[in-house]
Amino acid sequence: RKNMVIAIDGYSSCGKSTLAKALAKKLGFIYIDSGAMYRAITLYFLRNHVDLENHDAIIDALQHIELNFHSKDYESHITLNGEEVSEEIRLMPVSEAVSPVSAIKEVRQEMVKQQQRMGKSKNIVMDGRDIGTAVFPDAQVKFFMTADPKIRAERRYKEMVAKGDQNITLEEVFENLAHRDYADTTREESPLTRAEDAIILDNTDITEEEQLNFALEKVTPFL
Ligand code: C5P
Repeated sequence: RKNMVIAIDGYSSCGKSTLAKALAKKLGFIYIDSGAMYRAITLYFLRNHVDLENHDAIIDALQHIELNFHSKDYESHITLNGEEVSEEIRLMPVSEAVSPVSAIKEVRQEMVKQQQRMGKSKNIVMDGRDIGTAVFPDAQVKFFMTADPKIRAERRYKEMVAKGDQNITLEEVFENLAHRDYADTTREESPLTRAEDAIILDNTDITEEEQLNFALEKVTPFL
């Protein structure tokens, strides 16, 4: 491929988006948060009481959803039918419903199609669960990120508290991550798994700067 794609996959809350944003900023690439797309679809399904067992209702709902990214400073600002939903999609109701929604074949097909379009001609960094395996199997560089589950839960919990999400406990966050990891790795449609050619990055004990430097070292030969 002519344009450059960096794919970052891995478990929930192990710093994929932090690394992806830092890489995008450093390299002048576009950052795309594929998880935000599944979250926005989930928000639409929740609001409109879409029955996850009803195939026709799902197809119909997908036709009524338009997602757009507005990149400000490499943060992922996403709109759902024109409405800014970047904050609402991070709250617990969406986090609890997103894995079943993202396991639906029709949902994945539509998202993958849109993601492939976004990475067709521009240099991008995309993070998610199936980027190196299903969306861009031909990405030049793939990372597979992991970290100790307890550390991940603590990091996410601190982040949520800092944002003012007071009605939450560390245990709830830990449970949610565990459930999503289980659902994401065991689902039938493109489950979370390491692509054979993905570079493993375990960030339990390393700083954000060290991760960025490690990743840059792997990416530089392809620039
Ligand atoms: O990345 P984030 O944690 O925001 O993703 C939320 C959920 O969306 C994941 O737990 C997973 O169920 C789903 N997802 C996915 N494929 C992707 C990105 C996210 O199935 N490429």
